Formats: sequence, structure tokens, C-alpha cells
Amino acid sequence: MPLAPQDPVPLTARPITQLPDELISQIAAGEVVERPASVLRELLDNSLDAGARDVVLRLHAGGIRSIVIEDDGVGIAPADLALALMRHATSKIRSLQDLEQVRTMGFRGEALAAIASVSELKLISRTAQAPHALSLQARTGEVAPATRSVGTTVEVRELFFSTPARRKFLKSEATELAHCTEAVRRHALARPDVSFALWHEGKLMQQWRVPPLIEEPATSDAARQRRIREVLGDDFHAASLPLQAEAGPLRLRGRVGLPDAARARADQQHVFVNGRYVRDKLITHALRAAYEDVLHGQRHPACVLFLEITPELVDVNVHPAKTEVRFRDGRAVHQVVQHAIEAVLSMPRAALGSSPIGPSAQPLPAPQLPGEFHEPGQPSGSRLQGPWLAMASQPSLALQTARALYEPLMDRGLAPHDAQRNPDGHANDWPLGRALAQLHGIYILAQNRHGLIVVDMHAAHERIVYERLKADEAQRGGTLAAQTLLIPASFSATPSEMATAQDHGHTLAQLGLDLTVLGPATLAVRSRPTALQQADPVALARRVLADLAQWGASHAISRTRDDLLASMACHGAVRANRSLTLPEMNALLRDMEHTERSDQCNHGRPTWRQVSLRELDQLFLRGR
Ligand SMILES: Nc1ncnc2c1ncn2[C@@H]1O[C@H](COP(=O)(O)OP(=O)(O)O)[C@@H](O)[C@H]1O
Ligand SMILES: [Mg+2]
Repeated sequence: MPLAPQDPVPLTARPITQLPDELISQIAAGEVVERPASVLRELLDNSLDAGARDVVLRLHAGGIRSIVIEDDGVGIAPADLALALMRHATSKIRSLQDLEQVRTMGFRGEALAAIASVSELKLISRTAQAPHALSLQARTGEVAPATRSVGTTVEVRELFFSTPARRKFLKSEATELAHCTEAVRRHALARPDVSFALWHEGKLMQQWRVPPLIEEPATSDAARQRRIREVLGDDFHAASLPLQAEAGPLRLRGRVGLPDAARARADQQHVFVNGRYVRDKLITHALRAAYEDVLHGQRHPACVLFLEITPELVDVNVHPAKTEVRFRDGRAVHQVVQHAIEAVLSMPRAALGSSPIGPSAQPLPAPQLPGEFHEPGQPSGSRLQGPWLAMASQPSLALQTARALYEPLMDRGLAPHDAQRNPDGHANDWPLGRALAQLHGIYILAQNRHGLIVVDMHAAHERIVYERLKADEAQRGGTLAAQTLLIPASFSATPSEMATAQDHGHTLAQLGLDLTVLGPATLAVRSRPTALQQADPVALARRVLADLAQWGASHAISRTRDDLLASMACHGAVRANRSLTLPEMNALLRDMEHTERSDQCNHGRPTWRQVSLRELDQLFLRGR
């Protein structure tokens, strides 16, 4: 049969040849060394593995022209200097068993060889035992005495000079520099016990230090929180909450962003597993799940999470750049992460004396460093004992954990007041204050110790009703308590409403809505959910019918349920322009203080804001 033009031309067998070593290294380098930032990452890992406490980086031309890293680690013994540049030569593991328990960043013995194959690399190192330093030029193999103190310097010049095809893929110097800076920031986040300095073209770009006078260990939670703040900034700090949880072999720390500070891109999510920066789908998924109920739409929460887990329970050898890991028990990790974050997010922040809003409206010095409330001997966050997975999946865990987290804070009087234990306290002591008035039928104005509280009445009530519906449903195994109407409310229904009522009778009944067909175009509501007593039964039924018709069975079931409940809550919540009495307003404020997630409405918008006396004074130029 003649060959069609698109058929491949048959190849004649060509001889198989062993690739030269140099080429093998260059091919392997493709996996590890993509750009200056990947070189930087490998060199930083090496310095940290060598126990460095102080790392200085100097770059030129975004790292393309040169990267020089200097550390005060243990150094490389003279006899090992040449070995350090060989492929698959490492001081970090010797056996498969070592690999399974590896605690160092590196273990493959590939990075230096790979970097040396695509650059001009020079190694200068000295151990404590050596009389002086030695330098080694990778390309020539030339060894010479050098001067430096104990530690290692690696110089990488003219990256990809011998592989111009690679070099073409590099972006502008500014972009490469930005990637390098990001790599240093990540290492700085992961290691609060190490000082880092980054220079570019002779200018100091970034510096993070370990304070010389430290009362607490440099790895303490306080030090960690301080470093997070230094690296990610005050704005992130103010718009995030500290996180601490422990479950069996897993420890989780860091900060999670407030829902209303979520971002359009997932560019502020820093996840570390055993000190290693990773992009892990499982953890990202757990994060999303934790925010599901407080963050709608396409927004991405900000966070920095440090997960520590027994090395045996995680495989770090799954990705060339080691940015992915595989957990032995992924489900357990997912649950712990999700529940720990949920716990922090669900705690009503009014009770903590901090506003749900980010930096500008923060009325108080927020309870900042967990170190401030985490004294030795005090519980460090939630300690989940026993079979950790079982514990982690407990539904009521969220609030318990949150309490455990914040209890010490309250004990130490850092929270301004303790509403839960002081129900008869002065009205000014309520976190959300005492209601004063209603504004334009939309807002509740209240006075607390710090000034004025403004509450979006509908948004707040909607969240409370929603949480109540969910709790009711969970407690009754998936059905809402229903209240039979004395007089059924009939209404004329559209063909779609008739069909939906008949198709989804079971779901409707579970939602507390008993609908019967009275005629070809007439439906009657016989019951409504007890939690929505004020709701107009016909309007409620129509809304749920519309939702069901729209979502049907297409949604994942549980999400649909929550959406349905949210929709019902929106309907059942007080409408704008409904005038409330002061007792009603106060009741709403108290409910907010005790309802999980009450700081955001069901759509992720804030439900209240604090306007401090200081801000009011500023408006009137008082006290200047
Ligand atoms: N900054 C450093 N300080 C001390 N030793 C180093 C340093 N950088 C590299 N080494 C030594 O060189 C070896 C090879 O490094 P590398 O190629 O990155 O492989 P790996 O880190 O996987 O062992 C390391 O195992 C270590 O012994
Ligand atoms: Mg290495």
C-alpha cells in the first residue's frame, strides 16, 4: 500500500550509544535548573542543610550574570570538595531507609552537578577542622587555597552560557530577579531561625534577621509569627488569624487570611511541608473546603501554612524540583488542615475584640503573636489526642478548637472583654455593644467600648439564620424541623413549579416544606421550617422551588443543600426597611457574638464594622 503523505517516514534503526556524561548532566539539569531562581533555591537548600544561621546572596543581572551565596554552615571537607560536584554524590543519605526518613532539603546529590553543567561554578569552602579554605573551579577542576571563615561560598556565573537555547527562555532581568526574591522570601518564611540578606547589583534588596537578643528560641511560635509578619507584611498580618493545631503525628501552624481579605489570584498561598515549600493539591483543596462556607465565588484566601509531619509519613521524592509531596494518609492530612482552618475562621471575631475587617478598621492592637498568649505550660492550640483521624472528623471540633485556641488569650486579659463569662456585664462590655438606633432601615448602630459599631442588619441576620438552619439540619440527620401551618397557604403555580414540587417532594419535605397539589395549577404549603417562622410561606416555597428547578440534581448534593439553606436564610432574614425594636437589635447583636462565621454574610461580605472613637475624633479634628 502506498504511503499517505502524512504517514511517518519509517526510520532505519540507528545505533544506540551511551550519552557522554556532560550531556547526561545537562539533560538532568533541565529538570532542576530552569532559571536563576531554581539555582538559588537549590543553593539555599544546601546552606540550610549545612546548618547555616546566616546566608548572604549577591546577584547580578537578575541572577543570570551571577549568583553568589555565602553561608556559615559546616563547610565541605577538603577531601569531599570534588565529590560535591559529582552527580549522585551526597552526604545526606546512604540508603533507602535514610531516604524514607529524610529530614534535609536535599538528598539526590544532583543539584551542584546540574548547575555546574550549565554555568561557570566555583566552590569555596572551609570546615572547622581545615587550616584554611579551598576553592574548586568546576570547569577546570582546579583546586587552590582560598581565604574565608568556616562555611561555604558558591559562585554561579553566566547561567546557560553553553546552552543558548535554554538561555533564550529566560525572561527579563527584572522578572528573573522577582523570581529569585520570591525564592528567598520562601526560605526566609520557612526558617525564622536563620538570617537572610539579598543583594542585587550591590544594593540591599531584602533582609531578614534573627534578633540578637532573643528570650525565646528562634524557632518558637513567636519568632515564627514575627518572621511571617516581616516577610508578608503588616497588611497580611492584620488581615489574618494565627493558626495552631496538632493531631497525632501532624502539627500545623501559620496564619490564615480573613475571608474578606481574599484575593482574585491564589498568589498569596504559602504552604510548607516539613520546611519545604510545596504546591500541594491536597492541601490547597483542604484550604478551599475550609473557606467554602465563608468565601463565595472565585476568590482565593491568603495563607501561610507550616505542616510538620513525621518524615516517614510523607514522600518528598516525587517531583524533580521537590515541590510536590505525597502523604501516606492524605485523607487524614486533608481533614486536619480543613478542620483546623475552619475552627479559626468560625470563631466570631467580635468575641476576640478584633474587627472582621482588615487593617484600616482594626480598633485594637489585635491579639497578634501567639507567643503572647502561648506561654510554656499553656495549651498550645488544639491538641487532638487519641486516634487522630477520628478526632479530626468530629463535627463539633471547629468550635472546640477555636475555643482552645483563644482561651489562653482571654485568660491573659488580652481580649478586651469576655462576653461569654460575663453575661451581666456592663452594656459597653459586649463586644458588639449596645444598640442605639437603626439607620435607613439598613444598618444597626451600636455603641461599644471602642466607639461605634455599624451592622448590616440583613447580612448579619441572614448568616445567623443560615447557621441555625445548618445546625438544625445536622442535628436532625438531614431534615429541618417543620411547623404545620394552621391554615395551609395555597397559591397558583406555574407549570415549572408544579413539576418541581412533584419531582422533589422528598427534598422539600426534608427542608420542612410540605407542598400538596390542590389542582392542576394550584399548590398549597402545609408546613414551613420552624427556624423560619417569620417567613412568608408562599414566597419561601416559590423561592425553594425556583432553586430546585435551577440546581436540580446537577450540583453535588451537599453543596446544593447548603445553597438551598443559604437561599432560605436569605429569604427568612429580616428585610431592609423592617424596623426593629432596640431589644430586637440587641438580640441580633448577641446572636452575632455567639454564632460561628457571623463576621461574614453568606456571600463573604463583612457583616459589621467598628468605627473607633479615634477615627470619629479624626473626622472632627478633635484632639489635634
Ligand atoms: N553550602 C554547603 N555547605 C556544606 N556542604 C554543601 C553545601 N552545598 C553542597 N554541599 C555538599 O555537597 C553535596 C552535594 O550537594 P547537592 O548537589 O546539592 O546534592 P544534595 O543536596 O542532594 O546532597 C551535599 O550533599 C553536601 O555534602
Ligand atoms: Mg542540594
